[in-house]
Amino acid sequence: MANILIVEDDEVFSQLLSMHLEDLGHVPKAARNLNEARDILAHATVDAILLDQQLPDGYGMDLLREIKAEPDAPPVIMVTGVSDNSLVIEAMKAGAYDFVRKPMDELELDTTLNNALRNHRLSRKVKAIHMSMDEPVNMNQIVGRSPGITRLLKTIGSVASSQASVLITGESGTGKEIVARAIHHHSERSGLFLPVNCSAIVENLLESELFGHEKGSFTGADRRKQGKFELAANGTLFLDELGELPLNLQAKLLRVLQEGTYERVGGTQTLHTSARIIAATNRDLEAMVEEGRFREDLYYRLNVVNIILPPLRDRMEDLSLLTEHLLNKINQRLHTRVKNISEATWTMMQAYNWPGNVRELENILTRAAVLCRDDTITPDLLGLNNPVNATSRSGTGQQPDQSPELVSLDELEQRHVRRILEYTRWHKGKTCEILGISRPALERRIKKYGFDES
Ligand SMILES: Nc1ncnc2c1ncn2[C@@H]1O[C@H](COP(=O)(O)OP(=O)(O)OP(=O)(O)O)[C@@H](O)[C@H]1O
Ligand SMILES: [Mg+2]
Repeated sequence: MANILIVEDDEVFSQLLSMHLEDLGHVPKAARNLNEARDILAHATVDAILLDQQLPDGYGMDLLREIKAEPDAPPVIMVTGVSDNSLVIEAMKAGAYDFVRKPMDELELDTTLNNALRNHRLSRKVKAIHMSMDEPVNMNQIVGRSPGITRLLKTIGSVASSQASVLITGESGTGKEIVARAIHHHSERSGLFLPVNCSAIVENLLESELFGHEKGSFTGADRRKQGKFELAANGTLFLDELGELPLNLQAKLLRVLQEGTYERVGGTQTLHTSARIIAATNRDLEAMVEEGRFREDLYYRLNVVNIILPPLRDRMEDLSLLTEHLLNKINQRLHTRVKNISEATWTMMQAYNWPGNVRELENILTRAAVLCRDDTITPDLLGLNNPVNATSRSGTGQQPDQSPELVSLDELEQRHVRRILEYTRWHKGKTCEILGISRPALERRIKKYGFDES
């Protein structure tokens, strides 16, 4: 629900618009001219403004400029029947959120209004971070309200206190480790949470890291060493990058899972472990099983509970909460003071497909926070101005194409414009922003290339 100011002198149109907004659950307020609008703005909270251009006491553009001169100005959407195309450019330059032509398409207006309200909410929220900056952030908190995250939290709650092994799968940066930590935290196990990265250590060292070794068992083993299975007694052993575990160690791990027993490297004494095992991988283990690179029996043993983490592009509704949380975290860690994200930055972040998921978001925000000269992150600080990276949302991150494509500039432009249109789901305002062209320039290309929305 939001308070929407309609500035419109055509009573019938204004009433239709009010009714439509009420149907959407908003609270409309109507002004018939600029002065009434100024009066409402001075006395009431307004979350967004729908503004006509030609009004009895002046031009909508004048009010737009006045509004945008104030800090924390609500988004303004121009809704007008004026046919002068240069007005579209002028309005966007003056800071209008979007430009909707009369007769208007209700769906277009709804989408634009929703986006405008969401952006405004985010920028206010990000401003609020400044106030709460001294509050410590829980670095391992799982953030998100999407159905995927809610499902995840439920699963964590139901498996935390059991002994069952858990396999966490998901693309890189989706939060596998943070989930493993959450399971351990809620398990109330008295021991430690110990991560082992199966890909970071050479095979022999990895074996000794996991199982420990006896003195003299290999060159350099000058004393007995406890392995992670021993150190994680009554705790959780987190086997990260499990897909990289060599076959020989897969066999040993299987035995630990089946019997709870193992020997140190070079040792004969059989030891018991009470560690719970949580494994994570961004590889497709099932495919690895088929190719004979991962043991099938181990796969089924570990896969008792499988948590699949959704990529960020499939839960973009979490982007604003995550951004707020990560900025808070970054400000605290680096003593930066980023309070704000510009609307254009936000538009870009929403259009990007985040192949590196939350980790990429965190990295990009960290770099932007460090480079940021005042308190607002502007699009240039994101380093995302290569929308070619931003392939379709359902696709996974792709490697850049190595071989040059032998196509004309015209052809390249055509494809690129089409791609961005599909991306923004034909949101022309966003498309113009990403492409850095005006609305008429976009319209010209749509016509030239014969694109249509269906
Ligand atoms: N839902 C989330 N809420 C808050 N922070 C998150 C969330 N998901 C991931 N993060 C943060 O993103 C970063 C990457 O997460 P994490 O290391 O858990 O990912 P991963 O899946 O293990 O990635 P990789 O495959 O690259 O190792 C961490 O700093 C983590 O705190
Ligand atoms: Mg990880």
